[in-house]
Amino acid sequence: MKRWTIGILSFAMICSLTACAGNAGGDVENTEIEASSEEEKESVIQDTHSDDGRNVVGISMPSQKLERWNRDGNFLKKEFEEEGYEVLISFGNDLIDEQINGIEDMISEGADLLIITPIDATSLTSVLEDAAAANIPVISYDRLILQSPYIDYYISFDNYTVGTLQGEFIRDTLDLDNAGDKSYNIEFTAGDPADNNAQFFYNGAYDVLSPYIESGVLNVPSGQTTFIQTATSSWSRDYAKERFENILNSYYLTEKELDAVCCSNDTVALGTTEAIEEDYAGNNDIIITGQDADEPNLKNIVDGKQTMTVYKALSNESIVAFTLGKAIVDGETPGEDLIQNSGWDFSCNYDTSSYDTGEKVVASYLLDPIVITVDNMKEELVDKGYYTEDEQGYLHPVQ
Ligand code: BGC
Repeated sequence: MKRWTIGILSFAMICSLTACAGNAGGDVENTEIEASSEEEKESVIQDTHSDDGRNVVGISMPSQKLERWNRDGNFLKKEFEEEGYEVLISFGNDLIDEQINGIEDMISEGADLLIITPIDATSLTSVLEDAAAANIPVISYDRLILQSPYIDYYISFDNYTVGTLQGEFIRDTLDLDNAGDKSYNIEFTAGDPADNNAQFFYNGAYDVLSPYIESGVLNVPSGQTTFIQTATSSWSRDYAKERFENILNSYYLTEKELDAVCCSNDTVALGTTEAIEEDYAGNNDIIITGQDADEPNLKNIVDGKQTMTVYKALSNESIVAFTLGKAIVDGETPGEDLIQNSGWDFSCNYDTSSYDTGEKVVASYLLDPIVITVDNMKEELVDKGYYTEDEQGYLHPVQ
C-alpha cells in the first residue's frame, strides 16, 4: 500500500475526493464522478479510494464504447472490492495517450497491482518501465501487451480456439466436407490489427477454412483473404459496415450469392449485418459469426439476423484475475497450482509457451470459449445465470 499523491488529480477526481471528504470513517465509498462531458467521464479514473491501508488495484480498460469492457470493468471492480481492495479503474476511451495517462496516475496513486487491457499492444513499453521501477506487478488482461518484459502474467480465453470455433461452425453448417460439386461464397471481417488477439481469432478461423478455399469449395469473391485485408481498425462497427458495403457493391451486384461471413467479434458482425440488410440484393440465409454474446447480437440471433456468437464468461475471467492478483500481492508466484487449488467450477488451462510479448514468454491462464446459437442460448446463458430472458425471448447480461 503506497501513498496517495494529490498532485496528479484531475478536476473530476478532485470532485470525487470532495465527495469522499465527509466520510471520516474512511470506508470505501462509491463516489459520483462529475466530469464536464461524456468523453471526460469515460477517461477519468473512477476512484473508490480510502486511505486506510488496504491494497490498491489499478484496472485499465480500453474503452466504454464496446459493451464487453464495461462488463469486464464491473466484474473486476466487484471481485476486488468484495475482498476489501481499493479499486482505481480507468477507461482509455480508445485513445492510447489517455490509457497511458490513466496508468501513470495509478502508479502515482500507489497501486499494488495493475490489470491492463491494452488499446494498442505495442504502446505501453515506457509506462510499464515506470510500473517496474515502482515494483508494481502487471497482469495483461484478455489482450496481451507486446514489446515489454514487465508483464507478470496473462489471463485470457483461448483466442485461437475462438477463431477455430467460428471456422468449424461455418464448415459444419455448410457441410463443406460433403459439398460434392457445390461451392459457396464467403467473406471475412477481422478485428483490430493493434490488438494481439485479432490475429489469433483470424488464424484460428482461417486455418479451418483455408483447405476448402484452396480446393475451390469456398470462394472469396472480394479476393480479400489476408488478416490485414480484412482487418477492422478499433473493432469499429462503422468501419466494418463501410468496408462491407463496398464489398457488396463491388462483388455481389449480379446475382452472386453470399453464403457466409466470418466475423471475428460481435461489433464487426453488427456492422456487417447492417451492410447486408441495406445493400445485399439476394434473399438467402447468410451465416454470420461473432464473439462476445453482446446484447444486440443475441437479439439478432433470436431474430435470425446473426447465426452464432462465441461466448466468453467474463465473470469467470474476473474470478481468475482476482485469485491470481491476490496471490501475487500476497507475495506468491503462482503456476499451475493456482488452478488446482482454486475449486473453480469452470475449466482453465495454464500455458507457458503460446504468448510471447517479443521480450518475454508470459505464463498464461486461458479459459474455454463456447459456441452460442439460437438453440443453446437459454441453456448456456440463462440457465447458468449469466443472462436473464425477457417476455419477448431476448437476453440481457447479468452485471
Ligand atoms: C477481445 C474480444 C473483443 C475485442 C473488441 C478483443 O481483444 O478478446 O472479446 O470483442 O477485443 O473489444
